[in-house]
Amino acid sequence: MYTTDQRPHFVQTHLTDPGAVRAELQAGLLATPAQIAPKFLYDALGSRLFDAITELPEYYPTRTEAAIFAQHGAAMARHLSAGSVLIDLGAGSCAKAARLFPVLHPAGYVAVDISVDYLRDALGALQQRHPSLSMLGLGMDFSASLAMDSAAADLLHTHDLQAAPRTVFYPGSSIGNFDPAQALILLRQAHALCREGGPGGGLLIGVDLVKPISVLEPAYDDALGVTAAFNRNLLLNVNRWLGSDFAPAQWKHKAFFNSDDSRIEMHLQALGVQTVRWPGGERRFAAGESLHTENSYKWTPVAFEALLHEAGFGSVRRWSDEREWFGVFAALAS
Ligand code: AVJ
Repeated sequence: MYTTDQRPHFVQTHLTDPGAVRAELQAGLLATPAQIAPKFLYDALGSRLFDAITELPEYYPTRTEAAIFAQHGAAMARHLSAGSVLIDLGAGSCAKAARLFPVLHPAGYVAVDISVDYLRDALGALQQRHPSLSMLGLGMDFSASLAMDSAAADLLHTHDLQAAPRTVFYPGSSIGNFDPAQALILLRQAHALCREGGPGGGLLIGVDLVKPISVLEPAYDDALGVTAAFNRNLLLNVNRWLGSDFAPAQWKHKAFFNSDDSRIEMHLQALGVQTVRWPGGERRFAAGESLHTENSYKWTPVAFEALLHEAGFGSVRRWSDEREWFGVFAALAS
């Protein structure tokens, strides 16, 4: 019997080098102030704790964004090209993109995450529900570069998707982890990626907006202590990578809005003097000294629209909730 049923294809273009990870961790720990990149929040337990955060009453971004997509998805689709290849950055469970399939009608779906193994189950299940849609799982560290390697390009070619317009999808205010200069670099790369598919390319991005501190700070320091656990769990992950001996109970979760830089900062604060040791090094922390673990930038609509223009995008539109707490921007690449 003739069938058009497809299977997802998977490519891992980048593999984490444990030596480089250890060097990065060590450099951050020896710096003043000490810092660890937020990607270390997401081991298996950290990813589950983040999922729990998205259910907290104080953490408004996830549900606010979902409501905006539900209410305005059709208008977003009208602004972007129908029949495009949807490129989902940090896809994970692929759930947010899948909810947009009925309005976006993509011609193909490329799920990108740091490890292709995170994508196998989700993409396999999604393929069952959309048997004729070409799907590709791509394991790559797009925070380093968005340039698709030749294996990925070949796969798009095989599926006849090389010349389809591209829609880059970057939801969840993940862009918030980048400072404005880094965010501009990432958006310029997204712009180049959109253009490679020819005319009609665009970007659909979710961005958390500036709002009263009385709303922002509890979202990052919730009453149940889930965000505190999420932050402290980073130390267990670092112990595994580096062989260090951080004791999570000795560190206090801190989250506050830095209004000069328009960002929530998360830190871990040493509860007493302590020396953390690892093979080949150590770091002494004074009582109250802090280890910076995350920035989460909050944008005004005007500033983010200007950033999109600076990155080369035009025809910018924004949809928000009534309180203007969160923005979904759609912009065209040419
Ligand atoms: C996944 C980066 C969007 O900044 O709100 C949630 C991560 N950190 N609570 C955010 C996070 C603490 C989240 N992002």
